[in-house]
Amino acid sequence: MSSLLETKIAARQHALREQGLLRQRKVLGVDHALNTNASTSSPRFVFEGRAYVNFSSNDYLGLSRVPELVEALHLGAQTYGVGSGASPLVTGYSDAHLALERELCALTGHEAALLFCSGFSANTALMKTLFDQHDIVVADKLVHASIIDGLQDSGAQLKRFLHNSLESAERLLARHHSSALITESVFSMDGDCAPISELSALCRQHHAWLVVDDAHGFAVLDGYKKAEAAKLIDVQVVTFGKALGCQGAAVLGSQALIDFLVSNAREYIYSTALSPANAALALAATQYSTAHPELQQKLLENIALFKQLCREANVPLLGSDTAIQPLIIGDARQTLQVAEELRAAGIWVGAIRPPTVPVGSARLRITLTAAHAAEDIATCVAQLAQVLSRVVVPLVTERQAADDHR
Ligand SMILES: Cc1ncc(COP(=O)(O)O)c(C=O)c1O
Repeated sequence: MSSLLETKIAARQHALREQGLLRQRKVLGVDHALNTNASTSSPRFVFEGRAYVNFSSNDYLGLSRVPELVEALHLGAQTYGVGSGASPLVTGYSDAHLALERELCALTGHEAALLFCSGFSANTALMKTLFDQHDIVVADKLVHASIIDGLQDSGAQLKRFLHNSLESAERLLARHHSSALITESVFSMDGDCAPISELSALCRQHHAWLVVDDAHGFAVLDGYKKAEAAKLIDVQVVTFGKALGCQGAAVLGSQALIDFLVSNAREYIYSTALSPANAALALAATQYSTAHPELQQKLLENIALFKQLCREANVPLLGSDTAIQPLIIGDARQTLQVAEELRAAGIWVGAIRPPTVPVGSARLRITLTAAHAAEDIATCVAQLAQVLSRVVVPLVTERQAADDHR
């Protein structure tokens, strides 16, 4: 007889399979042909013996393959060893960590920073340590799962406002005596940007902190970097695994907040620190991105090219101006089918299904990077147009998709 847990696992997996929502890992290999020419060709990998152009990574500036950064990680490991060896409050906090924290503060204008091994743990630690059952927290409907999980653990009352709607946010702030408003700078699945200046003004008016998950904006959106961020944002979470091309995250804010987290955040206190080699790498990547503004420019050019080609080919995008370009299909199975057909043509895009996105809004999440070559972007759009004309799908227009979020 099966145990209770075996029965539960089998039933849940069966249900997911039936709904087209089963998640499976794919083992990707290195395209060795690419590595000899790393900085001049589109990101590629090999899956089951075949090479694919990668239109689904968050390595927006293409930094993960930059030789200087490979060398920075190597040097970091030679200097400090490959691991931190302990949690930060024991012996896991080094001058490499401090140097990275200082650089992030200089860039954003915040007083202090605290490093985590991932953005997910930074968000959950921040939410569940900062808030408790006495707090009312207002958050955009589309904030990341790590924020929701942390808030749920915190016991705070959570009020969600309609995605990117200032009116809806203001209504909630006026109705509830809220401690904070939480949003993302660039929304991970829609690619649109939050109205940070306006939200900041609202928060000031209502004496609430503005907390921004800047995972997809940091190092690619300039508007509120460059020591300006702290003027608008009380707490900023930046991650190193997206535009910086490496790994880890930081919470940035006042010295008082960071001291409070050091003493109370369980994810920080009871977990092995980010390795100093990775801290040294993230520092080098931050400095590299600042010293090479042409990468941001190239990324913008690639986004513009992709959007223009899609317009010409009648491929209906969601209207994002960032590296994240969603194409809403609606049905989870059809989304998978379109992604698979694109794979047959050597193009790899993300197929995003519920619960990552709301039911009925399954989508292709196509991401552009500074490293993509124009001819690969053109091939991607041409294949996309062909597949969409072959596989009949109820495409949701920009307008409808925006309405569905409200
Ligand atoms: C908006 C947002 N916040 C946080 C995270 C988590 O960051 P990390 O990948 O470093 O854990 C992600 C990653 O998917 C994200 O998209």
